[in-house]
Amino acid sequence: MKRGAAAGIPVIVLVTVLAVSGAAAGNDAGGSSEPELVLSQRFQRVIAAEMNAVQKGMLDLASSIPAGRWGDIITTGRGMINGYIMKKKLSEAEQAELKRSLPAGYRGLDGEFRDAALNMVRAAEALDMKAVNHSFYQLGETCIACHARYAQKRFPGFHQK
Ligand code: HEC
Repeated sequence: MKRGAAAGIPVIVLVTVLAVSGAAAGNDAGGSSEPELVLSQRFQRVIAAEMNAVQKGMLDLASSIPAGRWGDIITTGRGMINGYIMKKKLSEAEQAELKRSLPAGYRGLDGEFRDAALNMVRAAEALDMKAVNHSFYQLGETCIACHARYAQKRFPGFHQK
């Protein structure tokens, strides 16, 4: 499980579209009758860049949580909620276009990811490390759920059985 969340290494993405068949994903993260997720190369690149920033955030949290660095936890959590790259690289019109091209199940998992980050920020503000740690675990669950369902080309390991 941890391996899945931490194993991503930046790669040059060569494919022009990301076409993910929801029906083939084989897990229950969303409705299996959803349309495929098809992204332009540009959107895919931006998502990949965002993801690498998210992954760095998770690695930062893995050291700031055991060290009790509340301020760092809050800063990292807020960065995840706001998005590190998307808003800087995409115009408002492009952000709206991207949103339209994402299936409802994907947007739902993205919302769960943000909720977990928000809960973690609130727990850190309340100096509640047990709740911080719980939210960190929940964050990791959203990575796995979304990758298993919508990033199977990038992470084929979820479908090896
Ligand atoms: C709502 C969906 C969603 C969530 C939640 C999500 N990801 Fe991703 N992630 C994706 C998609 C889609 C890709 C594939 C992008 C591509 O094709 O390159 C991806 C790719 C990645 C990559 C590879 C990027 C690259 O350069 O190819 C990393 C690393 C990554 N995610 C880390 C994470 C981590 C860590 C978390 C949780 C803290 C997370 N992701 C949560 C959808 C998600």
